[in-house]
Amino acid sequence: DHSLISDNNVSPSATPAPLKQPFVIGVAGGTASGKTTVCNMIMSQLHDQRVVLVNQDSFYHSLSEEKLKKVHEYNFDHPAAFNTEVLLSCMEKLRSGQPVNIPSYDFKIHQSVESPSPVNPGDVIILEGILVLNDPRVRDLMNMKIFVDTDADVRLSRRIQRDTVERGRNIQNVLEQYTKFVKPSFDEFIQPSMKYADIIIPRGGDNDVAIDLIVQHIRTKLCQHNLCKIYSNIFIISSTFQI
Ligand code: ADP
Ligand code: C5P
Repeated sequence: DHSLISDNNVSPSATPAPLKQPFVIGVAGGTASGKTTVCNMIMSQLHDQRVVLVNQDSFYHSLSEEKLKKVHEYNFDHPAAFNTEVLLSCMEKLRSGQPVNIPSYDFKIHQSVESPSPVNPGDVIILEGILVLNDPRVRDLMNMKIFVDTDADVRLSRRIQRDTVERGRNIQNVLEQYTKFVKPSFDEFIQPSMKYADIIIPRGGDNDVAIDLIVQHIRTKLCQHNLCKIYSNIFIISSTFQI
């Protein structure tokens, strides 16, 4: 907590609710555009803040046995592939300062696995994923919206590399999935969501200048936010004395 006067000193009902909310950043972009890399860079530069990273991938629907048999016909890049209700409820809880259990997803078996990760609320919450700017209810949670814009050929070559090494796929499957689902869904849902971004980062994690500017902006906002908190607490304390 960065306020000089702890919230414990005042009655919770007297504290204006919005000022207690963390700063929420959405980071969208195509597959392998560098979203995770950008988030890690932002987090490492904000090391003195409590930053929480939430990944949209954690909220993939688990595939039933039926769907697993035809996994090559399943579109993981469509908004319906995600359980957005659960994502919204987790984000709302974090925003209101409550801890949550985030589901754990295994890309090799296309299912959620046991042992969700307990996540504590922070001063900054970063929500990262291909479609986080697609749903207006999710966008409405955000104080800052970022789109990582990396060329499709760069993304595809990174995806082949990553999926064959880390996600248990072979090159032929990756290319088939890319042509059938990943690219069409990018064109239909992800690329059009770029218009909602406040900031577009060309070249992802290679763009140090953009990351520096974003971190500077977050610091300014957190500072304003904390000043508001301090002023509101002083106001509450002074009105308490008047009573
Ligand atoms: P996303 O979260 O958008 O899928 P990642 O940040 O996980 O993207 O990056 C996807 C892959 O590309 C990872 O294997 C990562 O190491 C690699 N990668 C990301 N950014 C760069 C970069 N600027 N230069 C080289 N490789 C990168
Ligand atoms: O990390 P990245 O943003 O690339 O993760 C999203 C991608 O993961 C989607 O493009 C989707 O095609 C892929 N995916 C997959 N298998 C799953 C779940 C997601 O290939 N079981």
